Amino acid sequence: MVANFKYQTPRVLSVPSNSFAETFIRFNPFYYMLKASNIHKSYDTLHVLKGVDFSVGKGEIVSIVGKSGAGKSTLLHIIGTLDKPDSGSVLYDGREISALNTNELASFRNEHIGFIFQFHHLLPEFTALENVCIPGFILKTPEAKVKKRAKELLDYLGLSERLGHKPNQLSGGEQQRVAVARALINNPGIIFADEPSGNLDSASSKELHDLLFKLRNDFQQTFVIVTHNEELADMSDRKVEMQDGRLAQ
Ligand SMILES: Nc1ncnc2c1ncn2[C@@H]1O[C@H](COP(=O)(O)OP(=O)(O)OP(=O)(O)O)[C@@H](O)[C@H]1O
Ligand SMILES: [Mg+2]
Repeated sequence: MVANFKYQTPRVLSVPSNSFAETFIRFNPFYYMLKASNIHKSYDTLHVLKGVDFSVGKGEIVSIVGKSGAGKSTLLHIIGTLDKPDSGSVLYDGREISALNTNELASFRNEHIGFIFQFHHLLPEFTALENVCIPGFILKTPEAKVKKRAKELLDYLGLSERLGHKPNQLSGGEQQRVAVARALINNPGIIFADEPSGNLDSASSKELHDLLFKLRNDFQQTFVIVTHNEELADMSDRKVEMQDGRLAQ
């Protein structure tokens, strides 16, 4: 356990559902880490998202489930700022991100958002340590500081013996843990994961799922996870289902 991580997510949505406190929180746009309202997205004549409302409290783990083609990844890309909605609003900590231009959005994303995908997307010619450092270098954090934190993270994730290995020298589970370290390097407020264990065997999947919850418990890290894995969805604080272009709570 590394003592000197500084995470930015001190507040937690830990109130009983349907309580007065929850009602208050639901109507207070500044409480949420993320609040998306009335999101619409079409591809030509295919209306994929038909007015999606979605929010995540700080330190909360929410799973999005639903049939293949239902629009889960489309939604994740929009709330993760990788894509724009046709209409609707996305607030981060009360800040409307549709007002940002492309460059501002890219730096906002690099600083505040982490991603974990089904296929880790590690760069094959770089070592585990270098892959983890890259978002820190893009943020222009001093090199020594980035490397120190990357080593601490890889150590925390049980990979201290693998710093100099390239992705093809790592197991699938190890590669995915490197991707988790890369997602965490800039202390993001929120991490989006799209089928994070979709490419792993059941033992490595379980290890990864436990790791996500450990990160939440140790550091109040917020996660939004798209998954077909029922065990992971059921472990989450909240499970929402994408149905007919909307989210059923
Ligand atoms: N760039 C695109 N251009 C056109 N159609 C798209 C595009 N991206 C997604 N779609 C369509 O939008 C629908 C929703 O796709 P999406 O990838 O969000 O589904 P999903 O719920 O993530 O499915 P899966 O569980 O299989 O990953 C699908 O019918 C898909 O074919
Ligand atoms: Mg998908």
